[in-house]
Amino acid sequence: EPKGPLSGKNILVTAGPTREVIDPVRYFTNHSSGKMGYAIAKVLRDRGANVTLISGPTQLTPPDGINVVHIESTLEMYEEVMKRYSDVDAVVKSAAVADYRPKYTSQHKVKKKDGPMTIEMVRNPDILKELGEKKERQILIGFAAETKDVAEYAKKKLTSKNLDLIVANNVLEAGSGFQSDTNRVTFFYRNGKVESFDLLSKNIVAGHLADALISMLEVNSK
Ligand code: C5P
Repeated sequence: EPKGPLSGKNILVTAGPTREVIDPVRYFTNHSSGKMGYAIAKVLRDRGANVTLISGPTQLTPPDGINVVHIESTLEMYEEVMKRYSDVDAVVKSAAVADYRPKYTSQHKVKKKDGPMTIEMVRNPDILKELGEKKERQILIGFAAETKDVAEYAKKKLTSKNLDLIVANNVLEAGSGFQSDTNRVTFFYRNGKVESFDLLSKNIVAGHLADALISMLEVNSK
């Protein structure tokens, strides 16, 4: 049994992008590298937690001492998260989940034709929103990667998804992008508290997130 402030806690972390398949050779995705989520999973492990990392496709090495589950699509992530939810103390949802998927997946490569073409998209489930609706004792932490009006959107998501904490960043800002090793984030808490950080390495940001999670779990258990 690992030692540390999170010893005995089961924590689910999601990381990376998803792939929404069009046909056997094509998919929709985004620029997420998974670095933030992997850094969080490692810090939580180091502080004693029993960590399950649900990961989209990334270039990163699966960390030791963590139960890593590889998924591709949002629907697969949804299944893997939902079946574990009742057993966990906290969920950190750092994955960049696709809001839409192609309505149809072709079994064969789609052939080009003359003129424009359209791919019809349907909504994916909002995994975090559903976790918020089913929330019992779990601490829920979400992410808001925005390109403008960061604080406003983040606070809206905090409320609409019933979160305890949302980590917001502007992905257009230098050093805060999807592939970078650094991030400049602001924490918005359910109780209205706001914490802004300087540009930091994702490992240090992960440490601050672990500190926040530890104090929220303590408050929760009293
Ligand atoms: O996409 P959005 O800005 O709403 O994402 C905010 C949070 O919700 C993120 O933590 C993300 O992982 C989560 N999310 C989700 N399922 C989706 C879309 C987003 O869990 N379909």
